[in-house]
Amino acid sequence: MTRPTPATALAAGTAREPMTRPTRLRCAIVGTGAVAHLHARAVAAHPRATLVAVTNRHRPKAEAFAAQWGGPAVYDNHQDLLAAERPDVVLICTPPEAHRQQALDSFAAGAHVVVEKPPAASLDQLDDMLAAARAADRQLAVVFQQRTGTAAAHVRRLLQAGALGRPLLAQCLTLWHRDAAYFAVPWRGRWQTEGGGTTLGHGIHQLDLLAFLLGDWAEVRAQLWRLARATETEDVSTATIRFASGVIANAVSSAISPRQTSSIRIDTTRATVSLDHLYGHGLDNWSITPAPDVPPAEAAGWAFPPAAEASGHAPLLRDVFDALLQGAPLPDTAAAGARALEIVAAIYASADAGGAPVTPAALAVHPTHRRSFRSQVVDLR
Ligand SMILES: NC(=O)c1ccc[n+]([C@@H]2O[C@H](COP(=O)([O-])OP(=O)(O)OC[C@H]3O[C@@H](n4cnc5c(N)ncnc54)[C@H](O)[C@@H]3O)[C@@H](O)[C@H]2O)c1
Repeated sequence: MTRPTPATALAAGTAREPMTRPTRLRCAIVGTGAVAHLHARAVAAHPRATLVAVTNRHRPKAEAFAAQWGGPAVYDNHQDLLAAERPDVVLICTPPEAHRQQALDSFAAGAHVVVEKPPAASLDQLDDMLAAARAADRQLAVVFQQRTGTAAAHVRRLLQAGALGRPLLAQCLTLWHRDAAYFAVPWRGRWQTEGGGTTLGHGIHQLDLLAFLLGDWAEVRAQLWRLARATETEDVSTATIRFASGVIANAVSSAISPRQTSSIRIDTTRATVSLDHLYGHGLDNWSITPAPDVPPAEAAGWAFPPAAEASGHAPLLRDVFDALLQGAPLPDTAAAGARALEIVAAIYASADAGGAPVTPAALAVHPTHRRSFRSQVVDLR
């Protein structure tokens, strides 16, 4: 039996293919590189998901990957895969430049899409992907796995409930070290091929988590710096982000910091919330320090749950798969992928204008930075 794809059904003016609710999810991975292994592991761990197909522009890589992950079918490209397999879910693990077209083709073939961060290489591209998801009545889930984990959910609940008072000030540091050899790979460190520097490639994880905790942003002022690496893009960015709630955040993204850390600190009227980790966090990475005037009984009410799940791809993809199987909305941890990309775009747009303030309204109609992050970098090498 042949089913019309949503695209052909719409083109023919017929009713859109209804959102089906499969009893098992047939999953496909596009781009079988480093991060794809985390996706394959999450699929394998889910009782109602199966990896049925994979593809890579270098077929031997896809074949080696398939041999390692239970022998899914291997295809030369994602178009052949979609036509032959009609998967329920496509997990896009290619570099950002490829995300838009692969997502659009997947939606047209009736699949839901899970896309790795950054979800797209520009805001315009992400808009196209969200529009295609809506037109096909399918979901676009974004992988920002730092949002997951029991502790992040706990802190977010406390902040949203006002239990920690009013958030005032935040620090968001992504201090990583990527040496010259890392940037010697031809596509890295260039606007055309990587799309952005350490802000887009590395800092976006913490920026996303910060925004997951604090909500909508209202203004960004930023600078891009080239301090040490032979790149076209920035190896450091410094930004001040004002959130709609009034919180002032200082954000640094760096690829030149030998003692590496990823951290977030939020000072509220009642407490300081701290997170210190590198690439993922568990309960031990978080703390809540009460202000001196907070009674011990009140602070005791903020205690983290004893049984805690760490952050990672596994809980994120599990919750996405569960939502798709139930026909439920995506979990908060996988929805609203645009906010972090907007903050990153605003950092680039502000830096390109010498540190001038950028608001969401200005970014919405920005003449250059909706389609590219290419910006002026202050070179101090
Ligand atoms: N969430 C995380 O913690 C995390 C970690 C690493 C990477 N990522 C993201 O995952 C994506 C992939 O990163 P990676 O480190 O796995 O890269 P990678 O280079 O290891 O793997 C990408 C693979 O995609 C293949 N590919 C490229 N273009 C393709 C195309 N058009 N069709 C099919 N295959 C194609 C390449 O051959 C390569 O094997 C990026 O968006 C990256 O930012 C996320």
